[in-house]
Amino acid sequence: MRGARFEVERAARSLGELLLSLDAAGLPAIEADLVSLLDDPMPAKRALATAGLVRAGRPLKELAERDRDALLSAVSAMSAEQLPASAVTDLMAMVDDGTVDTTTGVLEAARLATDREALFVWLAAKVDPARGLGFDQWGDAHRRAMAALQGMHTVDRADWPAGYREYYLDPPAEEVYLRGEALYHVEEGGCIKCHGPDGRGAEGFPPLADSPWVMGDPRRAATIVEHGLTGEIVMHDGRRFHSTMDPLRQGANLSGADVAAILTYIRRSWGNFGPVVTYEDIKTLPSPSEGGVWKVDEVLMHFPLAYDRLLPGGDAPRRPGVAGWHAPRGGLAVLLGVVLLFNVLFAGMTYLANRR
Ligand code: HEC
Repeated sequence: MRGARFEVERAARSLGELLLSLDAAGLPAIEADLVSLLDDPMPAKRALATAGLVRAGRPLKELAERDRDALLSAVSAMSAEQLPASAVTDLMAMVDDGTVDTTTGVLEAARLATDREALFVWLAAKVDPARGLGFDQWGDAHRRAMAALQGMHTVDRADWPAGYREYYLDPPAEEVYLRGEALYHVEEGGCIKCHGPDGRGAEGFPPLADSPWVMGDPRRAATIVEHGLTGEIVMHDGRRFHSTMDPLRQGANLSGADVAAILTYIRRSWGNFGPVVTYEDIKTLPSPSEGGVWKVDEVLMHFPLAYDRLLPGGDAPRRPGVAGWHAPRGGLAVLLGVVLLFNVLFAGMTYLANRR
């Protein structure tokens, strides 16, 4: 069953990619078909038609004004080569004048921009000094935009707005972060198994995202990885967990530097924002007085929580973490392909016939 679904998905993806790779010169031949699809009730069809029309040379702005979501879906499924040369400047202008939403617009502009310096200048101008690092309001886009900005050395960092400077990880620190990310995601013995791919935890397993246990003194989380934890814990949103985390470091064969890297990752991801943790920071750790696993009360005597700093309006800097750059997966290509199977195959054949 799963295999069959996979096959359909694969076929659909190939067909979606086929449409996107058709010789653009021939697209005007099916333009009328594409335009008629713009009013289709199915969003994927509208997105597909929009992608075709972009390739046929219709201005992005005109298409966005007609159907903003269709345009953004179409653009996000296309590569820089498939888009007109003006796509990035058009997107930036549309973010600026509010035709498209900041989150998606920034994300796509960051993905497509080849002129990194122009991208930087544009992004930097969007940081609102009055509210600190404006990226917080950008949803997921800030993470990708920041990842895109990493390694941009043409602009002197001294000129960056304060938020950026703090946010930036120099290459050695970024390496630590990426190592921590990889260790977190190891299938056997990685934190991901219980705390989830996005740090949000699971039934019976508490979150690390937005957790007061993770922020503050890094030795708290380090010693939990070393000795485990048992007892009731309460998250600041009121959720309660009562379970046991077994000691993990030795069994999972993690060195002290590995733990520091993992902590760097979890303290800088999913909305947590903290500096890099080094082995020095967590070298000396207390142990449970009676041996065994930490009891909640005892570990909190060593490292009290600071809930208030995490509540909305608290004084802790809550800044987005730097994530690796992930190009969007082929999600839309699959949708496009499914639609293609039913509908546009016909138009495609007309096009191919006309080409001869
Ligand atoms: C086998 C499951 C499991 C794995 C793997 C695991 N944990 Fe946990 N973790 C738990 C459970 C269960 C608790 C809650 C214990 C309790 O209720 O007292 C917990 C609690 C925590 C806490 C304190 C509460 C919170 O959510 O902030 C931290 C910090 C933590 N784990 C970090 C880690 C890190 C870092 C790793 C990977 C190195 C990891 N854990 C791997 C199960 C696990």
